[in-house]
Amino acid sequence: MFSIKDKVSTEERYILENVAAAAADMHVPAFAIGGYVRDLLLGRPCKDIDIVCEGSGIELAKKTAGLLSANIHVSYFKNFGTAMFHYNGIDVEFVGARKESYRRESRKPIVEDGTIEDDQNRRDFTINALAIALSGEDFGNIVDPFNGLADLENGIIRTPLTPTETFDDDPLRMMRAIRFATQLNFKIEHTTYKAIEPLKERIKIVSQERIIDEINKIVMTEKPSLGFKHLFNTGLLQVIFPEMARLQGVAQVENYGHKDNFYHTLKVLDNVVDRGGDLWLRWAAILHDIAKPNTQRFEEGHGWTFHGHDAVGARMVPKIFTALKLPLNEKMKFVQKLVALHLRPISLTKENITDSAIRRLIVEADEDLEALLLLCEADITSKNPEKVRKYTKNLQLVKQKIEEVEERDRLRNWQPPISGELIMQTFGLTPCKEVGIIKNFIREGILDGDIRNEYHEAYEFMIQKGLEIGLTVVPQNA
Ligand code: CTP
Repeated sequence: MFSIKDKVSTEERYILENVAAAAADMHVPAFAIGGYVRDLLLGRPCKDIDIVCEGSGIELAKKTAGLLSANIHVSYFKNFGTAMFHYNGIDVEFVGARKESYRRESRKPIVEDGTIEDDQNRRDFTINALAIALSGEDFGNIVDPFNGLADLENGIIRTPLTPTETFDDDPLRMMRAIRFATQLNFKIEHTTYKAIEPLKERIKIVSQERIIDEINKIVMTEKPSLGFKHLFNTGLLQVIFPEMARLQGVAQVENYGHKDNFYHTLKVLDNVVDRGGDLWLRWAAILHDIAKPNTQRFEEGHGWTFHGHDAVGARMVPKIFTALKLPLNEKMKFVQKLVALHLRPISLTKENITDSAIRRLIVEADEDLEALLLLCEADITSKNPEKVRKYTKNLQLVKQKIEEVEERDRLRNWQPPISGELIMQTFGLTPCKEVGIIKNFIREGILDGDIRNEYHEAYEFMIQKGLEIGLTVVPQNA
């Protein structure tokens, strides 16, 4: 019999032994189960232990806590028959075995008590239905009615019951199958995979909070493209995120095609991941070309163009964030800014790179300049090595120029050297549009390189521009 005794840490073993002692006291069989067992066997870190017993989970939790230490606080929900406590940084959750579908997030009260087999039956995948016995002689033995161990070893995601039954219990499991396959680099077993397409519309009954949670877990994997390809091929993406699914496909007129924007986007996303991009930079990659289908035109003798897809895409970002229930805060603003600016660095190299264009880029991208440059680098996905070489060299040139201009002009976190207060004081104004006009003259003057980014030159310039628009300098009291 396979045993996990040598796999658990001393801390975890101490907890499990105390659960076993409490269960023995109550004469109920108890098991560690689910993600904890899976991750333990895979050698992945896991900070939660789920315990199932054939009896009262709440009572077992209280008894175990009592054995571990006098001052553990046990929280419990009578209606759901669940209880939990923290012990030395580990969350331990308890529940009585159930006959109906098991979901941690379920808001439904327990319907009927069951045995460990009933409980395992109603879980999502064979690899998540593995249990560790915590009673007497059996302590540490794996309880594996569905060959979950073999699936774990062979890297297979498979439902314990028929996939239709398991997915029908909770349609989010279709996305969980894809998420686990992507996270663990596992294959989804054929019939399990085939069952998703016909059930895809059922995902609509699942709350958007749970859906975005799974999407983000896919986005945070090492190779998110795998997950998005599965989502697309099963038809789920078309239901949960149609704007992204619309990127797929190549229009053909005469001999002109263009690259498939879906697969290009996925490559950019993987590239961003390889370069250490966080969740929001990954979202910027996902959305950088999102408006290409809306802006696609065929120009005779020239080919396909996507004019304005940067600006149109940036305008789509808040709508997409709202629909997906992503946060509408500074993270959204960051993604929007990157979508708006993603063409800028490369397009600069098409003309002579002027200092003024570089200054504008630095001021607009501001603290997100590095992230933008990383996205631009990730956006170079051509299969033609000659093109890759050329674009990479151009981007390098832009980076070098940015460094030169930055060093000279200190534009990062730019604050105008002349305040609105000073403008009002100098010309004896109260707040009015002329103050904004002068401010803008100064900003443009600095960005165009007519004056340097410093107080004295900006002050002289303010006086000059003020007089030009008919203002008068009022004598200042010493
Ligand atoms: N489970 C399920 N169906 C769901 C969600 C969860 O059957 N829709 C079961 C699985 O046995 C799963 C366990 O509940 O292993 C715990 O769920 P959860 O904490 O959501 O997932 P984990 O498997 O622990 O994985 P992760 O923490 O990565 O989400």
